[in-house]
Amino acid sequence: MKRRDFIKRSGMSALTVWGGSSFLFSGCHTEEDMIGESNWIVEGSFDRALPLPSSLTGGGSLNAQFSTSEILKGKVTTTLSYAEGQPGPVIRANKGETVNINLTNHLSEETNIHWHGLVLPEDMDGHPRDVAAAGGSLPYSLPIIQRAGTYWYHPHPHGATARQVFMGLAGLFIVSDEEETRLNLPQGEYEIPLIIQDKHFEGNSLDYSPNEDEMMTGYLGEHVIVNGAYAPFQNVAAGWYRLRMLNGSTARVYNLTFSHGIRMNIIGSDGGLLRSSQEVSSILLGPGERLDVLVDFSSVTIGSEVYLASSKFSTYHPQGRQSFNLMKFKVERRSEFQFSLPSQLSDIPVLNDNNALMTRTFDISAMINASGGSMGRHSINGKTFETERIDETVQADSTEVWVFDNMAGDEIHPMHIHGVQFQILERIGGRNEVTPAETGWKDTVLVMPGEKVKVIMTFPQYTGVFVFHCHNLEHEDDGMMLNYKIA
Ligand code: C2O
Ligand code: CU
Repeated sequence: MKRRDFIKRSGMSALTVWGGSSFLFSGCHTEEDMIGESNWIVEGSFDRALPLPSSLTGGGSLNAQFSTSEILKGKVTTTLSYAEGQPGPVIRANKGETVNINLTNHLSEETNIHWHGLVLPEDMDGHPRDVAAAGGSLPYSLPIIQRAGTYWYHPHPHGATARQVFMGLAGLFIVSDEEETRLNLPQGEYEIPLIIQDKHFEGNSLDYSPNEDEMMTGYLGEHVIVNGAYAPFQNVAAGWYRLRMLNGSTARVYNLTFSHGIRMNIIGSDGGLLRSSQEVSSILLGPGERLDVLVDFSSVTIGSEVYLASSKFSTYHPQGRQSFNLMKFKVERRSEFQFSLPSQLSDIPVLNDNNALMTRTFDISAMINASGGSMGRHSINGKTFETERIDETVQADSTEVWVFDNMAGDEIHPMHIHGVQFQILERIGGRNEVTPAETGWKDTVLVMPGEKVKVIMTFPQYTGVFVFHCHNLEHEDDGMMLNYKIA
């Protein structure tokens, strides 16, 4: 069966439940073989070392360029990247600094950079209208006014974001501050960034060619890569590690979990540290979201091979039907690093909806039929993106509640608001809860089919035009994005 037939078929068989296969860490493909699906995750042999991206401190330059990379072991693949290989360097900065980054566009098309999660002046935010032409450049000057956290950066030219990210343009942006430094969290070799993405290959080449059906579900790749490498392993000591995870996929959601019963202690999410760490055995991570997690490998014997995996989360949506491994940790020595988990992490003020100036509700479930296409397009309140149209106007420094309503929808929408960090008040329908990873500051929230999520935020002092959109990048490029103005 062809990949494309599956996507169509999966939409119609939404209620199919496959039984009989439990969650396997050994990489057995029984269920996949049964379905015979080329789009199903292909698991590799986890026999190559995890690449670690380089760091960029004190600002510098990023070149968006054609490059090559060893995504599949021993194979050369053409990519787009901000550095040799991919992903881009981890940009590191301290709160209070101004980071100057010069982007040079060596591509044959427009590009720009959005600093996802950072609260920045309008002209620095990477709005789709602010792009560098092929051969051009853009100087970014980024005042870091916010707390420590795991942020990231990627291109944002309208209609081409998904493809440019898929081809390799993305990187982490890590901010530190004094509050976080005082906690003495694992660092150096004990702090590992994990950028998780799925890729579709034709032979040794990346292939980004969504058809109309794949614009609906999102473009799913059959190879899951971490830090730009397919099926890697990392040697670790039997002790604590800080894993900074980013879901940089265009559309795939992961239900992250560890083998050997190892629990994850979530210490931070999109906007930095939580109040206290939250212990979970699995957690959903949608496109654009980050997780800051402490994991203790000391509960397994030395010599163990521990897998980071994604387990099934729903038989309803095609994305949730499969369990697979992402990478392997080989626990190969004792740890020299002494650490105990702090009981308190951070003070986070509670935003109260009594103080909200107003509530805006956004219907994100509807498809509209704009240009006579057979499938319709993803929309927000019945509208698709227009670069110059202002859809909402808010007051600087005011507090508002926004409601993303996907009650009637059957697609997964990770909703992202530029220029602000929000708190999640309530999720109605579906999972019916605010999850442990959602108890701090967020900039992207997963709104599953049948769910309505209420968020609250205080807009910054910066005035200007920012966007909010679905971070399923196929949906975003399809127009599921609006402008809002801070006045
Ligand atoms: Cu990471 Cu507007 O997006
Ligand atoms: Cu969406």
